[in-house]
Amino acid sequence: MTGNDIRRSFLDYFTRQSHTVVKSSSLVPDKDPTLLFTNAGMVQFKNVFLGQERLPYSRAASSQKCLRISGKHNDLEAVGRDTYHHTFFEMLGNWSFGDYYKAEAIEWAWELLTREWGLPKDKLWATVYLDDDQAERLWAKISGLPAERIRRFGEKENFWEMGETGPCGPCSEIHLDRGPEACDRNGLPGHVCQVNGDCARYIELWNLVFIQYNRKDNRELEELPSKHVDTGMGLERITAVLQNVLSNYDIDFM
Ligand code: GLY
Repeated sequence: MTGNDIRRSFLDYFTRQSHTVVKSSSLVPDKDPTLLFTNAGMVQFKNVFLGQERLPYSRAASSQKCLRISGKHNDLEAVGRDTYHHTFFEMLGNWSFGDYYKAEAIEWAWELLTREWGLPKDKLWATVYLDDDQAERLWAKISGLPAERIRRFGEKENFWEMGETGPCGPCSEIHLDRGPEACDRNGLPGHVCQVNGDCARYIELWNLVFIQYNRKDNRELEELPSKHVDTGMGLERITAVLQNVLSNYDIDFM
C-alpha cells in the first residue's frame, strides 16, 4: 500500500464504523488562542469536548496536518536524532463526542491494525494509565494479549494533554516491537530495549486518549460533562511499518 492508500484505508475503515470524515483544519488554530500551531487532530474539536460547541455528528475521523515545534508537544529535538519523529506530519485520528468510549476505541484500533492491515499480534504491546483497570481488562478481553504485554505507565507516558490547559485524560497506547535489528543503541552500557525505552526497537503506533477532564488555568482537573475519545496515529510512522522500512524517510511519499 502507498501512503495515500493507507490514509484512505484508515478513513474508509472509520466511515464503515459510522464516522464522518472531516478535513484537516488550519495549522494555525482559528479558535484556540492557547496554541500557536495545531499539534494534534483533536484541536479543531476542543470546544466540542468542553461542551461549548455541538456538531451534527458524534463520530469523526480525519488525517490532520500537525506541527510540533513548540509548547507541550515539541518534537524539534528528536528530528535528526531518530527516524520516526517529525516537526510537520499527518496524524490519523478518530473521535467520539460523548458517544462510544474505551471498548469501541480499543476494539476498532485492534481490528484495523491486526485484521485489516495484518500486523503480527505477537509483536504488539498495549499500555494503560496507572489506575486504568478498565482499559487493562478491555485490552486483555479484546486483543487476547497476555498480561505481560499490557503495561501500566504514569502521567508522562499515559496521560495526554493538548497543552497547558484544555481537554485531557488517561490514554492507552499501542506499541510495536520491530525486532532487535531496529535497536539504535545496541551495545551501549546498561541499554535495555523496552516499551517506552530509549531506542528505536519499540515504537508507539497509536495513542487512544479517553478524554474526561479539562485542565484549568490553576492546573486543577475539572470533570467534563461527557466522556470522549481522541486518537492519534502518525501517518508517516504507520506507513513505514506497513511498507516494512525502519525509517520514515524511506516511505513512498517522503
Ligand atoms: N491527541 C492524541 C495524540 O496526539 O496523541
